[in-house]
Amino acid sequence: MTKPGATVSEPVAFPQDRSCPYHPPTAYDPLRTARPLARVTLYDGRDVWVVTGHSAARELLADPRLSSDRTRSGFPLTNRRFAAARDRRAALLGVDDPEHRTQRRMLVPSFTLKRTTALRPGIQETVDRLLDAMEAAGPPAELVSAFALPLPSMVICALLGVPYADHDFFEAQSRRLLRGPAPADTRDARDQLDSYLGELIDRKRKEPGDGLLDELIQEQLRDGGLDRAELVSLATLLLVAGHETTANMISLGTFTLLQHPDQLAELRADPGLMSAAVEELLRFLSIADGLVRVATEDIEIAGVTIRADEGVLFSTSVINRDTAAFSEPDTLDWHRPARHHVAFGFGIHQCLGQNLARAELEIALRALFARLPGLRLAAPAEEIPFKPGDTIQGMLELPVTW
Ligand code: HEM
Repeated sequence: MTKPGATVSEPVAFPQDRSCPYHPPTAYDPLRTARPLARVTLYDGRDVWVVTGHSAARELLADPRLSSDRTRSGFPLTNRRFAAARDRRAALLGVDDPEHRTQRRMLVPSFTLKRTTALRPGIQETVDRLLDAMEAAGPPAELVSAFALPLPSMVICALLGVPYADHDFFEAQSRRLLRGPAPADTRDARDQLDSYLGELIDRKRKEPGDGLLDELIQEQLRDGGLDRAELVSLATLLLVAGHETTANMISLGTFTLLQHPDQLAELRADPGLMSAAVEELLRFLSIADGLVRVATEDIEIAGVTIRADEGVLFSTSVINRDTAAFSEPDTLDWHRPARHHVAFGFGIHQCLGQNLARAELEIALRALFARLPGLRLAAPAEEIPFKPGDTIQGMLELPVTW
């Protein structure tokens, strides 16, 4: 095997905690100087490839010789929790073409720009209601539980046709799934979510309602396009991906804006910058840091050979700070072109919910800073806890006042 990136002599441990919630871990600095690929060591001592260059990342994420099937031999597992659940095949995110194409086609119509634009007035109403309640109860407030989490949770429930009344249950299980204390939590949380959604689907088969799950039952389950287990797995993915990620972007995005007063002032003065700001925040924060694949054949790239069965990770935080793609990448700048970031991934698995996430983020951040001009942290920034490196990045809590 050829070793790329002459400056990296030793593989770096991956993943690692960030030292600042909005910058890549300083421990990844050697990866930032070794582009476009380097080696990292996983928790189990195994060395795998990590892609760090923007152009190589887009090339490889579009390469059908990299598989997303977690049950394949050699698939890189980034922590004990995911290793414990590796025999559970995830729908969509965990399948390759042609199966992936078939599943994705069923969902795409519900996530087009047109469909998500039509959801904007409802999202605005939800945002206004949450901010009314937060203003009535505060100041201060804990922004994750009062705003950042309920908003995407309510939006994905309405879209899928899942009762929001059950949110305490599914939010708690999602938290255990993504960062429960023990590997057994991940398995159990997945079982709990699957059986909750399985029962909901069975009820909906008898009494149809409004929502994407009801449509999938009518259009796919009845005709055999999906079996019950596949529909349950898709529903679990959509419910978890639909609220956890966006909630983290809202909390970490707010924290980052409060820590960048000049950029915040600019945004307040010209709210027209909001959609560019959301794109730049997605790039800058790269909350889903560590996409995972395994090679099914030998792949030659950038002078190295990735062998069949070798694991390949994509560090989006490092890729999105590649100076070949973004000038002065460590600066938050609303005026740069940022939309070619890989914060939503790239290729066939590129985030299905990206239009929805953008709509939620724009509406949430615009309303939050317009309604509460005096918004500020209610604790010293360095004391506010954020998520560890082996899960989606975001704030654990965000105490604010105004
Ligand atoms: C800002 C928020 C979000 C971020 C940063 C994000 C990030 C990502 C990333 C990086 C991927 C690709 C994973 C890979 O290639 O391995 C992905 C896929 C996916 N995302 Fe998102 N996501 C967000 C919001 C959402 C929302 C709101 C939904 C709504 C349902 C969603 C649903 C999905 C689904 C279903 C996939 C799998 C797509 C496939 O395999 O074809 N995401 N997301």
